[in-house]
Parts: sequence; C-alpha cells; structure tokens
Amino acid sequence: MAEYRIGLGVTGGIAAYKAIEVMRHLQKAGCEVSVAMTRHATEFVRPLTFRALTDRHVIVDDYDPANPDPIAHINFSQEIDLLLIVPATANIIAKFANGIADDFLSSTYLASTAPVLIAPAMNVTMWEHAATQRNLERLKADGVRFVDPVAGELACKTVGTGKLEDVENIVRQALTVLSEPPAVAGGLRVSQRSAGGTIIGRSGNGAVLSDGEVKPPATAGGSDLAGEHILITVGGTREAIDPVRFISNHSSGKMGFAVAAAARDRGAKVTVVAASTSVEPPDGIELIRAISAQEMFDAVMEKVADATVFIGAAAVADYAPANVADMKIKKEGKDGFLLELKKTPDILSEVSKRRSGRQLVIGFAAETNDVIEYAKSKMAKKNLDMVIANDITAQGAGFNTDTNIATILTPQGETALGLMSKRALADKILDEIINLRRSNPANAARSGNS
Ligand code: PMT
Repeated sequence: MAEYRIGLGVTGGIAAYKAIEVMRHLQKAGCEVSVAMTRHATEFVRPLTFRALTDRHVIVDDYDPANPDPIAHINFSQEIDLLLIVPATANIIAKFANGIADDFLSSTYLASTAPVLIAPAMNVTMWEHAATQRNLERLKADGVRFVDPVAGELACKTVGTGKLEDVENIVRQALTVLSEPPAVAGGLRVSQRSAGGTIIGRSGNGAVLSDGEVKPPATAGGSDLAGEHILITVGGTREAIDPVRFISNHSSGKMGFAVAAAARDRGAKVTVVAASTSVEPPDGIELIRAISAQEMFDAVMEKVADATVFIGAAAVADYAPANVADMKIKKEGKDGFLLELKKTPDILSEVSKRRSGRQLVIGFAAETNDVIEYAKSKMAKKNLDMVIANDITAQGAGFNTDTNIATILTPQGETALGLMSKRALADKILDEIINLRRSNPANAARSGNS
C-alpha cells in the first residue's frame, strides 16, 4: 500500500516532460500517483505515457466518454494527500487564484482540501508580470505552496527566472509538505487508507495513524540526514569602528539559510550562528546571533563539539579595527584618518584543528579570480573535507542573489555546477556530504562525533 497518494497536475508548458521524472521519483519514494492533464499539456506529452507508467486512467476531460468516472473531479480530489502541479503555467495559476473551474484540473483544485504545491515554469516576462505576481500572492495567502522557478536559459532562448526547479527539489518539497503538521500544510482533511489505519493528521515526523503509530515520511532523501547535527555560519560579520560605524560586506544570509533549510528538511538537527542578515531565517532550526567575527568565533567554539558537520557559509571579515572607539569619532578638523586593523580569528581553521572523529569540516571560497586555484589552496591549508567555490563577480552568483554558480571540491574531485537556486545548490552540497560519508568508512558512523 502506498504511503501517500498524490494528484499530479500537468499543464501545457515545454517543461511538461519533466513531470514524468517527478512522477517516477515519487513512485520510487512509495507514493501512488494519479495524473490529470490540461488539454494544452497533451500537446507536449501524451496521456498514454503517464497511463503506461501509472497503470491508471489519465484524466484530461471529465466529460470524455472514455473516462471511467462520471464525477472524476470530485472523486479524484477527495482521494489525494497532495495536489502537485508540475509544471504550472501562468494560465493555471491565474485560474486557481480566481476560482475559475472550466476544466478538470481547475475544478479539481476547487474541489480538493489537500495541500497544494505548485512548481511554475514560464517565460521570464510572464513570470515577472504584475498579474502573475498578484496571482501568486493571492494563492500564497490561500495557503498554496510554491517551488519557485529558477534562473537560467529558458525555452524561448532568453535568460532569466522561469525555469522549472530541479526535479529532485520538487520531489523533496512535495515529501516535506506531506510530512508537515496540518496547520502548516493547510487544510488537510481526514483521509482514508485501505491498510494500516486512517491518517488522522500529520506530525513533524510523518503521518499519525489512528492506531497511534507514527509513520516516517516517504523519502527521496527526505530524512537522509537524520542523525546529523549541522552547524552553519551565515551572513556577514560587522566589525565596529565606533558606536556608529562598522566594516562589513554584502552577505545577505541567503546561501547559508538555504543550506540550513535544506538540511532541516532532510532530517538533520541544524544550528545556525548568524551575523548580519537581510532575509528571514528558516523555521525549525536553532539560531544564535553573533555579529562580529570574534562573537561568531566564540559562539561556534561553544557549539562545535556537538556538531557532526560544520559548514562555514558566512562572509567573515578577515580584519577588524584594532581599537574600537568608545565615542563617535568626530570628523571636525580631520581631512582623513588612518584606521589600524588587526586580523580576526579564523573560525574555519580553528574548527578544522579541533575536529575529532567523523566530524566533517566544510568551507566556502568567495573569489573574484583564479577561483578553483584559490579554493584548492584553502582546502589544503585549512584541511577541509569540502569547499564550495563561488565566483562572486559572476552574474547570478555570490552575494544577495537568489541563485549561485559554484564548483564543489572534495578529495574525490571537482563538480562544476551551473546557475541554480541557492536552495538547489544547498541540496547538492548535502548530497556531497552523504557521498563523503559513504566513500570514506572513517566518516561513516552515524552517532556522536568522536
Ligand atoms: O549570504 P549571501 O548573500 O547569500 O552570499 C553568499 C556568500 C557569497 C557569502 C557565500 O556563498 C560564500 O561564499 N561564503 C563565504 C564567504 C567568505 O568569507 O569566503 P572566504 O573565501 O573569504 O573565506 C573562506 C572560508 O573561511 C569561508 O568558509 C568563511 O566562512 C571562512 N572564514 C573566513 C575568515 C574567517 N576569519 N573565518 C572563517 O571562518
């Protein structure tokens, strides 16, 4: 018996073929998938493909005489634990947002009380259009979740945001929604299971069955980091000059928080030591604020013995004012002044020196030139298990962007990754952690760090 039943809605975009991969991954994770397609989607992929792979009738039109169920949109919508739309066009998003029910999929949306997860894909101008953005906001207010599209080259040969997110990420987020409590997932009804009890709700750990048993969520890597405690530094440190001024950098915290959220979603315990950030931290993690490099150093050293993995994603100032003025430095009578700087403690190096047992120590390298060369030298000097090298001058990479372009270096070699969302990169980093654990028996134990 399948752990979860998913209604997969496929709409008419060039990325429709990727819905097949999504379906296969979900099936491998133990889900039962029923497919509904819009008429336009059938121009891109034939219903027969989904029918052959699901062994179920694929519904395009309620009124089609071949449809075995005369009120399919009601029955289909009541029998699913999640309605997942891959890819979602601007048109279906607009219909959902406005309650238009003029075909099977839009009627199913209205008739269902299951959580809804939408993975849009479209041309960048359509994505950025005020009407689309308004519809997205409306749906978010209604509790609908999104796997946002990413930047890249689109089918129309333009470059911009609108590309369907990685299949693995869509699947992972679908499984995460299924494993969340009802208040978060939104509107989850009591649904019947033919074996093993009735699902009466969702816990953070999975489905709570009426017989009291808690089932772990179906996974496609959904809990592959269970047992890990990941300590991550995030954001840009601020080094005070006086009570008013400081030296800092452009880090927003997006990269580090993306790693934290992905690790949390994959079952890890996550502690974040964050300096200055301009985005909201994710829920469900331990968050410690430490603004200067020295404060970050102290907070990390206090926590690191309990961690199984350390990831330095923060942009830590290498130098700080040697003396911090107690009072605001006055400019009167001065055409300029010299500021003496002293080196800050190197957090990553110290963690690496103190490492014990199976603890993995991972750093980022933010470079503007000779990226791989510098990253390799950091890896050797600081004795790291992995370095994520990003060229912060590349378009769509580095500070304060939603995307990044990185090369992951490990003792096994280098993997150059193209432009992707910071969340997708976060998952690639976590995948490499799993690979490191598998490839080196010394890293493989699952409990404690020594
Ligand atoms: O936060 P965002 O806006 O999303 O931007 C993301 C990012 C560009 C900040 C991130 O992707 C990144 O590259 N982080 C590392 C930035 C950095 O400080 O790189 P670095 O090459 O100077 O340092 C190398 C490593 O040593 C880093 O892991 C850093 O955290 C660590 N370090 C550096 C100095 C120091 N005193 N202590 C450290 O731990």
